[in-house]
Amino acid sequence: MAQKSAPKAAPKKSAPKKSSAKNAAPITSPLSNSDRDITGRVLQDTLLDLIDLHLVAKQAHWNVVGKFFRDVHLQLDELVTSARGFADDVAERAVTIGVSPDGRASTVAKGSGLPDFPADWRTDGQVIEAIVDTLGEVVARLRKRIDETDKTDLVSQDLLIAISSDLEKSHWMWQAQLA
Ligand SMILES: [Fe+2]
Repeated sequence: MAQKSAPKAAPKKSAPKKSSAKNAAPITSPLSNSDRDITGRVLQDTLLDLIDLHLVAKQAHWNVVGKFFRDVHLQLDELVTSARGFADDVAERAVTIGVSPDGRASTVAKGSGLPDFPADWRTDGQVIEAIVDTLGEVVARLRKRIDETDKTDLVSQDLLIAISSDLEKSHWMWQAQLA
């Protein structure tokens, strides 16, 4: 009588597939691939600037000293709130068009186009000048991106216009303190 062969080891179950293959995009895009790529890059670059703007404004908020400390300190927190909210809007727009946003600190450090903000205490005058320069750079970069999205995605362009409108107004209000 043939010996019963030892029961075969149960075949290894392959690991359950993740919800999507690693390289497949889980979110579809309403845009063509080319328009999605151009718009996604614009949104990603904007995200890095806005995260950095939020960090710069907080750094200044903590380190400002001087006669106008309180006004500048409080106005900086308004800028923090705006920058954080806009960063979220931009990141979520990127997701909506099927692009994965990257808001990691290391990516921001490498990719932000904002001027460096110095460490240590800063007088109210130094802070105002730095924020005027920083906002000037942010809005100049946004203006270029509004042009870049003109042919690729008007909905993203509309978001960039709304952000520019708010930050240009803020730029005015910071400049007014230098007069
Ligand atoms: Fe605070």
